[in-house]
This record gives sequence, structure tokens and C-alpha cells, in this order.
Amino acid sequence: MEAGVSSMFPLAVNLLFSIAGIFVTHKILLKCKSMFINAHLFGMDLSKRQSKKIPESQGVIIGTVFLIIMFLFIPVLFYNYLTKTADNEFPHSKFIEYLAALLSICCMIFLGFADDVLNLRWRQKLLLPTIASLPLLMVYFANFGATLIIVPKPFRGIVGFDLDLHILYYVYMGMLAVFCTNAINILAGVNGLEVGQSVIIAASVLIFNIIEIVYGNQPATHEFSIYFLMPFTALCCVLLWHNWYPAEVFVGDTFCYFSGMTFAVVAILGHFSKTLLLFFIPQVFNFLYSVPQLFHFLPCPRHRIPKFDPKANKVGISLMNCERNQIKPLGWIMLKVLSFFRLIQLNEMKSKNSKETVIECNNLTLLNLVLVYTGPLHERTLVLILLSIQIFCSFIAFFIRYQVAKIFYDV
Ligand code: UD1
Ligand code: MG
Repeated sequence: MEAGVSSMFPLAVNLLFSIAGIFVTHKILLKCKSMFINAHLFGMDLSKRQSKKIPESQGVIIGTVFLIIMFLFIPVLFYNYLTKTADNEFPHSKFIEYLAALLSICCMIFLGFADDVLNLRWRQKLLLPTIASLPLLMVYFANFGATLIIVPKPFRGIVGFDLDLHILYYVYMGMLAVFCTNAINILAGVNGLEVGQSVIIAASVLIFNIIEIVYGNQPATHEFSIYFLMPFTALCCVLLWHNWYPAEVFVGDTFCYFSGMTFAVVAILGHFSKTLLLFFIPQVFNFLYSVPQLFHFLPCPRHRIPKFDPKANKVGISLMNCERNQIKPLGWIMLKVLSFFRLIQLNEMKSKNSKETVIECNNLTLLNLVLVYTGPLHERTLVLILLSIQIFCSFIAFFIRYQVAKIFYDV
């Protein structure tokens, strides 16, 4: 599938399907609210004065519309090959790639929905995306099998020009799927943040794909990514409209998993997994910052979202506290390092009824870190700041990809 006039037709139809998807999704989202609430699929907005039932897991709606669009798109994408002629052999490998990508995304929507309904444990949350990415890795193995990486220039004297990572490359791709799905899910908790960050990442990857189609030497793989990301971005925009402050719907873990897997799929099959990580800078930071709590070096409450102050109608930092002697040595070192770099608000005090020292510090999320520096903010202001950081990081990503990379690779 060479880039050119022939590929304009699928792109145009894909755009048309995406626009149609916007209207359909908007209607379904409006209609299904009560259906989800009646099925007890709702959540309470923790940062609002009034407690109102908000339908949860609405990611399942846009996931379903997305799959329908992608299924309808199959004959469009392969229309050239539907009439059998000798020089027009059906591209089976491309077709399998497309189906495997959809299978992995479909599995993730299903597993995300299971998580919303059953509240899975963290162990399972890590295992499920790994398993869902297996069909994709198998297709990668059968179609490309390339596990060779080009070594950055400064290390070529030691390692050589390229390095075959063999099985490690598959481990890396599996971990990418786990990371993308969970990283979006843990940078969450204020209206519009999960979908907002996904829209910005998707738009950035789309721009990257277009640049690569015009100037790069592998236009087909980037077209493949656009076929997935155009409908995805369009549907996310509708969901963002409904999830924006004050949220009328919650996106649920279904959306976070769906979104993360879609990014992982296009990056793995489009051979730009390293570039994708550049567009995840805030998520990578939030994950690393969260490590002490995620891996239980420090206590991790069920919700780490900012604390709502109903009087001021603002959100401020949420705190975790525990006795000093409950913190493991490694956890204590982490606290001290973060405190040294002024990345946490840490208080030590004597508890009233015992002589123990009590430690109090903000929950380790990017949301709380912003609030440490700004003080309490209106929820909408906080989400706007976080989305601005995401956009700024996309500019940095493009700078690294197209300027800094020149120092390390021959690009
Ligand atoms: C992840 C975070 C958790 C955070 C939660 C919020 C980790 C390890 N887990 O957990 O700290 O509190 O996401 O999404 O970092 N909610 C709101 N406003 C919003 C979005 C969500 O109040 O804008 C609340 C609602 O009560 C909603 C619930 O969060 O029902 C959804 O939480 P859920 O997605 O189940 O939490 P986790 O993904 O497990
Ligand atoms: Mg969640």
C-alpha cells in the first residue's frame, strides 16, 4: 500500500466514518445515561458539592462505536483487492495485522469493562494488558520479526552499529502495552483529564504520522496508524465534551485501557514505540513519581485524587499519613530524596495520643504536585493546567524527535 492517490480514498472514507461516529456517539451517550445508572454502573463525583449519580464506564460506548467503524472500514481499506486479478494479490499479512490490532483493542475494552464492574486488583491490572497484547506480538513476530535496534552514536564504539534484542524486544513491547493502559488510568481523578490527555496524545501522534507520510520513508505504516487514530480522536472529543467539568459521565477504566492499548497497537505496528513514549512524558513522570506508593514503599490509599473543599469549591492536595516506624527504610529514603528536590510537601509531627512521630505528605501524583506549588485551585483550572503541561510536553517530544535525535542517530 503505497502512499498516493490510491490511499486517499480510504483516508477520506475513514474521515467520513469518524465524523459520522461523532454524531452517533453523542446520541448514544445522551440516551444511555439512565441505562447505566439502572444497571448500578455509576460513580459519585468526589469533587462536587452535591452528590449525584454519574454514569461510569462510558468508554465502553466509544469503544463499541470505534470497533464498528473499524469493522466497516475493512472492505474500504482492501477495496483494491476485492476483484481478483493476477497482479493484485490480496495482502494477507496486512489484513492479519489489522485484525490482530482490533483483537487486542477489543480484548482491552472487555477487560477494562470487567475492571469497572469487578474492581480488579493491581496484580490483575498488570497481567491483563500483557495477555491482551499477545496476539499483536505474535503477528509482529510473523510479519516483521525485527528485533534489531540501532545503537545511539555515542555507544557504537562499545556495542556496534546495531544490537539484536531477541526476546527482550517482545518483553519491551508487552510492557509498553501494560504501561500505556495503566499510565493513563493513574493520571486521573478530575473531570476531563483521562480523555483530555488521550486527545492531546492522539492529536500529537496524528501530526507525527502526517509528517512521516510526507517526509519519511515508511508512509504505509503511518497511514495504518492514522486509520486507527482518526476515528479514535474524533470519538474521544465527543466523550471529552460529556466528561468536561462539570462531568455528566465518567469514562471508567474501560476508556483508559482502550485508549492505552490503541496507542500501543499503532506504535508497535507502526514501528514508532520509542517516539510514542516521548508523547507520554507527563504519564512517565507521574508513574515514576507514583512508584513509592504503587509498590507499597509508602501507604497508598484507594483514591489519591486531590481533596475537595466544598466551602471554597476548590481542590487542594490530598494527604497520606502514617507513623514514622511503619515506613520501610527504602520508603524513607525515597521521601527524603523527593523532599530534597522539593517534589513533596512533607510534615513530621508528634501524634497526640502516642509518642510516635507521624509523617504526613501529599499523595504522589502529578495533580497533587501541581497543587503543592499553586495552592488550592478550581477543578477546571487544575485540569486546564494539566492539559497545558501535556501540550507543552508534546512540543518537547517533537523537538527531541526531530532535533535532539540528530545527535544520537543519522536522521
Ligand atoms: C485511579 C487512581 C486513584 C484515583 C482514581 C480516580 C492510582 C493508583 N489509582 O484508581 O488514585 O483516585 O483513579 O480516577 O493512582 N472520580 C471523580 N472525578 C473524576 C474521575 C473519577 O470523582 O473526574 C472518582 C469517581 O468516584 C469515580 C472514581 O473516581 O467513580 C473512578 O475511580 P476508578 O477509575 O475506579 O479508580 P482507579 O482507576 O482504580
Ligand atoms: Mg480508573
